[in-house]
Parts: sequence; structure tokens; C-alpha cells
Amino acid sequence: MVTSASTRFEGRTVIVTGAGSGIGLATAERLLAEGARVVAADVSPTRLADLADRHTGASLVTVVADLSAPADVEPVVAAAEGRVDGLANVAGIMDGFVPPAEVTDEHWSHVFSVNLDSMMRLTRAVLPAMLAAGRGAIVNVASEASLRGSAAGVAYTASKHAVVGLTRSTAFFYAPKGVRANAVAPGGVATNIDATFASEWGRERVTPYLAADLPPVATPDQLAAVIVWLLSEESSDVNGVVLPVDGGWSTV
Ligand SMILES: NC(=O)c1ccc[n+]([C@@H]2O[C@H](COP(=O)([O-])OP(=O)(O)OC[C@H]3O[C@@H](n4cnc5c(N)ncnc54)[C@H](O)[C@@H]3O)[C@@H](O)[C@H]2O)c1
Repeated sequence: MVTSASTRFEGRTVIVTGAGSGIGLATAERLLAEGARVVAADVSPTRLADLADRHTGASLVTVVADLSAPADVEPVVAAAEGRVDGLANVAGIMDGFVPPAEVTDEHWSHVFSVNLDSMMRLTRAVLPAMLAAGRGAIVNVASEASLRGSAAGVAYTASKHAVVGLTRSTAFFYAPKGVRANAVAPGGVATNIDATFASEWGRERVTPYLAADLPPVATPDQLAAVIVWLLSEESSDVNGVVLPVDGGWSTV
């Protein structure tokens, strides 16, 4: 729940993916509360309809899009109508904790298409507007699995490590042009993400690490607060970082 009456996003347009649930939903609602025009994209029409029902009259545009499909990126960017001050690449899926010996090509490709390819394509698509404006902020949601090998299966872990590379590369290339790119690496967050095991060895190997004395599970709004800060001018000199938002898990 947003308690501040900040209007720091008045007149700004921000695209949020995965806006139907969890971290993306909390980010979209925080941005709306702070005055942004929000383009909310998600693969779930019902979740987006619920969001729209709660924000009638607000500057909210919802776009149903399967962001693993290249063709679904363009309508999301078009809904921003030429102005993109921020992009929050939040949409992502887990991978059933499947280890390398068991991963199929289809599973690997699907996880990468949602977790990484969608972020690259949206980044590429919003950059012309940001570069023309000489400003813009991109925030990619990475993961604790960007920092270690024991938090997920191989496809999720590799895709989230690659999100870090996408973030750093984008920050490097466009820092001189006024465009920033940062990532957050959440630990456990209470959302609808599917964290079930699809592999017995995955369950056996990973469970002790997830059952260790880790920090408490976060709320989606704890993540949204940091994502929105990284999208705002208040973080204007922060660029290319991968910020753990995990209660200290990354120190364990
Ligand atoms: N929940 C956690 O513990 C946790 C930890 C670390 C990182 N993350 C990351 O946070 C991000 C958000 O996840 P969440 O926990 O809020 O999960 P969530 O499942 O609650 O929300 C994810 C949203 O993304 C949407 N989505 C999934 N595939 C999509 C696609 N192909 N196209 C468009 N939208 C799609 C879903 O419909 C859903 O509304 C993900 O990138 C996830 O990897 C989550």
C-alpha cells in the first residue's frame, strides 16, 4: 500500500510488464498513485481486467500481451503513444527447479523467451523514444538466482544471470545519452509465481538451501518501492547496478 502523496511521476509514462500480479501489480499501482500514466502489460486478461476495475478514471492503459511472442511487443510500446519515461520489465516465470541434466530444449527456450528475450525486445523498442528525449529509466527484475546457483533450476538461473548482462550492457551503451538501466534482485516475495518442483533431484538438492535461515519473505510492495525509486529522478546517478532486495539473503 502506498502511503506517500508523491506526485513525482506526474506527466510521465511508464510501461510495466507482468502488471497483473505480484511485483508488477504493486509497481503499476504505486506508479498510478504517484501520478504516472501506466501502460500495464500482462498475458492474463482477467488479471488486467481486475486492475482496470480498481482504477477507473486513472491514467491506466492495459494491454494483453504474451511477451514471449515477438509480435506482442509492438502493441505494448504503441500504447505509450511515443512517450516512454520508464520501463519496468517485471514479467517472468519460474522453471520447476529443473537441473541441467533434465532440461529440455523447449523448456529452456520458453523460460528464456519470457524471462530474457521479452526484456531485450522491450528495451530495444523503447530506446528510440528515450534516446530522442535524452532521458529514460529501465528497471529489470532479476533474482536471487542472478547471484547464486542454489535458488532455482538451470533455465531460470541462467536467464536471470543474463538479465544482469542485459542491464549492464544497456547502462554502458546509453549512459552518455541520459538513459539508465538498473536491476533489482529479489529474494523470496509473496506472489502468485509457481514455485513447485518438476524434478526430484531439483527438490532434493535445492530444498535445504531454501529452508536455511533466510530472511523473511518480502511483500510485493517492498519490491515496488525500490523499482519505482529506480525509475524516478531520485536515483538519477544510479546506473548499471544489480540491487539485491532480499533482506540480506545475498550476504548468506
Ligand atoms: N516471487 C519471488 O519470490 C521472486 C523472486 C525473485 C524474482 N522474482 C521475479 O519477479 C518477477 C515477477 O514475478 P512475481 O513473483 O510477481 O510473479 P507473479 O506470477 O505473481 O506475476 C508475474 C506476472 O507476469 C505475467 N506473465 C507471465 N508470463 C508472461 C508472458 N509471457 N507475457 C506477459 N506476462 C506474463 C503473469 O501473468 C503474472 O501476472 C519475475 O520476473 C520473477 O522471476 C520473483
